[in-house]
Amino acid sequence: MTSNFIDFNGRVAVVTGAASGIGKATALGLATHGADILAADINEEGLQDTVNSIQALGRKVVAVRCDISVPDDVTAMFEALDREFGHLDILINDPAIGARFKPEDLTLEDWHRVLNVCITGYFLCAQAGGRRMIKRGQGGAIVNISSIAGSSALGRGNFPYSTAKGAVNQFTRELAIEWACHKIRVNGIQPCQVLTPIVQRWFDDPKTDINSLLPRLLSGIPLNRLAVADDIANAALFLASDAASMITGVLLPVDGGNLAFNAGGTLVW
Ligand SMILES: NC(=O)c1ccc[n+]([C@@H]2O[C@H](COP(=O)([O-])OP(=O)(O)OC[C@H]3O[C@@H](n4cnc5c(N)ncnc54)[C@H](O)[C@@H]3O)[C@@H](O)[C@H]2O)c1
Repeated sequence: MTSNFIDFNGRVAVVTGAASGIGKATALGLATHGADILAADINEEGLQDTVNSIQALGRKVVAVRCDISVPDDVTAMFEALDREFGHLDILINDPAIGARFKPEDLTLEDWHRVLNVCITGYFLCAQAGGRRMIKRGQGGAIVNISSIAGSSALGRGNFPYSTAKGAVNQFTRELAIEWACHKIRVNGIQPCQVLTPIVQRWFDDPKTDINSLLPRLLSGIPLNRLAVADDIANAALFLASDAASMITGVLLPVDGGNLAFNAGGTLVW
């Protein structure tokens, strides 16, 4: 039995989307358990908050402004990693955006905008990080934040987002197989609705009828609550840790039973 179930001392992690929500909670969780962090995001103000929290934990942290959909930004981020840390053990692929239109109205520009962040950005970071892990020869762990929307359809204008999340799932499996020979484990997480700033903004939008939305969301979650960022971060920490050393190619739902629950099923009878 591993004595320290989760111990990242001496490990270096790149966390994208680290300024907010799940990415921020994961960066703080990794640092709490000993990792040094390169924290990346397009939101520099939010990143500074993450940096302050990680420094308070006594870990090394470097913030990089990086749009993961821009190849030159990703190259510069990994060059900063080489300069500041010298190696990479863990990559967390986290950011996503949406474009909520009816499929028949969605422009090609919006389609590309969403897929560029939600799947091409994950590829750019995984390729740059994976090349470094392969060269070093000591393995590594990649965790891709997917969604329940990668396996079942949400409707209400989530079409390109869900399509990208489906791609994240298969991207996870393919990379896990390609890089198993290098001892690089690649796993994904499929959260249900998580109470992060982006969801809070959706709830606060005057166009949202919270009285009908919340019960509708909860009716699909057998554990009867929304997730919080730490629920997802805890799963990411596990998958990134040596405690999961025999786990690769897995899509782990952190969804209160949502994906297990048939839409025609019944909770009470
Ligand atoms: N919140 C939910 O209900 C929920 C549910 C399922 C899956 N997820 C997934 O969790 C992940 C994180 O979502 P969250 O709720 O924490 O969102 P969030 O908005 O709180 O955080 C996302 C972060 O990503 C950053 N970001 C956006 N585009 C970027 C880019 N191009 N390059 C770099 N950074 C960028 C944002 O600035 C932000 O700091 C996403 O992949 C999302 O699809 C969230």
